[in-house]
Amino acid sequence: MGAQSESPTPMGNILSSMAAQADKALQDKELSMDLPIVDVDVFRTKPRDSPEVLAECKKAANALITYGALVLHDSRVSEDDNTTFLDLLEDYFAQPEEDLKKDERPELGYQIGVTLENTEKPKCAVDEPCLQVIERLAPSERPLDIKAHAPDPKCRFFWRMVEKPPYETEFPGLNAPNIVPDAEQIHDRWESVMDKWGNTLKNAVSDISGMAAIGLGLPAEAFVEAGKYGPHLLAPTASNLNRYGKKDSILAGFHTDLNFLTIHGRSRYPGLHIWARNTGKRIPVKIPPGKHLLVQAGKQLEHLTGGLIKAGYHEVVVNEATIGVIERRKKELPDRPLVRISSTFFYHLSSDYLLSPNEILAEQARKIREEQYKLGRDEGEEVEYPSMKVGQQVQNELKHIALMA
Ligand SMILES: [Fe+2]
Repeated sequence: MGAQSESPTPMGNILSSMAAQADKALQDKELSMDLPIVDVDVFRTKPRDSPEVLAECKKAANALITYGALVLHDSRVSEDDNTTFLDLLEDYFAQPEEDLKKDERPELGYQIGVTLENTEKPKCAVDEPCLQVIERLAPSERPLDIKAHAPDPKCRFFWRMVEKPPYETEFPGLNAPNIVPDAEQIHDRWESVMDKWGNTLKNAVSDISGMAAIGLGLPAEAFVEAGKYGPHLLAPTASNLNRYGKKDSILAGFHTDLNFLTIHGRSRYPGLHIWARNTGKRIPVKIPPGKHLLVQAGKQLEHLTGGLIKAGYHEVVVNEATIGVIERRKKELPDRPLVRISSTFFYHLSSDYLLSPNEILAEQARKIREEQYKLGRDEGEEVEYPSMKVGQQVQNELKHIALMA
């Protein structure tokens, strides 16, 4: 059953109180630049109907509406697992290109294995509504210029973490088997390290999905059920900072993610900027140390909520802070590869799930749009969210970013 068809009785109350909170936040011109921190432990350990859980769930939903992003705290996160993961991925991407090429699968739209640098283009560079988003930003808050339309100088590995659907999928290409790299020093530890860190991210993002659903007035399981057989991907990206370590290098140009929610662990190098929908400000991301992760909304969540939650724009660039860490690591760890790894996990809805906006949330989105307009914040032309299978939506998006013919 689709989340969009659910309409529980308490929704009206929850929605109107949530809407009041969201409206208040939107009217506050000086929104905090610090992302709200949502405590997943509260959701995991307290009774689901307790006021504490409900408040934390509303906080999650409102953060996604206002910022398109949130920081979460989860006591299951281990800093050591993140370190082990980052070390492995630095070693992997430090291999010669001919070894990395063995793990490429262009015929599967690069949706499994490695994507080498200069393959993926930031969609925004050729996408008129996205270019208008940039134009509406104050010049000082704009991303680095992507109009030159060069593909991103970043590599990536896709490691799928899926549950096989108990039905014949219409989109088998997006559900292909994983690739384990050959190199002896990497092969043996690969699977366990990827799965361990991947599961940490998957568990956290799945709980945030539950919390967001409750906060939006939907049943707790609405999103998690819709994503049960999703082609979830642990998708670390790598940027060679020897080659692309100059200030203002674009490692990943301004874009939104095509999936449902994206979750990140702490990178060793700063450089991720996000744009909170309602502040118009560029926010350099700092994930607080110790058991914290960052979550951003993607296109599938935008689609399901009829634009109430917007996919969050972001870029990865070399800024002053990145240079500082490069210099420090060169001195302190001269033998380690100078590679910026981002531990990204893409949480997807199931490929065969029908993506269609929830009418109540879509109505709320229209109200907020009007409020925004009255406050002088033009969100551009109203976006249509036609019903389609998630697999179709993913294929449409991949064509835009040059990963699928
Ligand atoms: Fe992204």
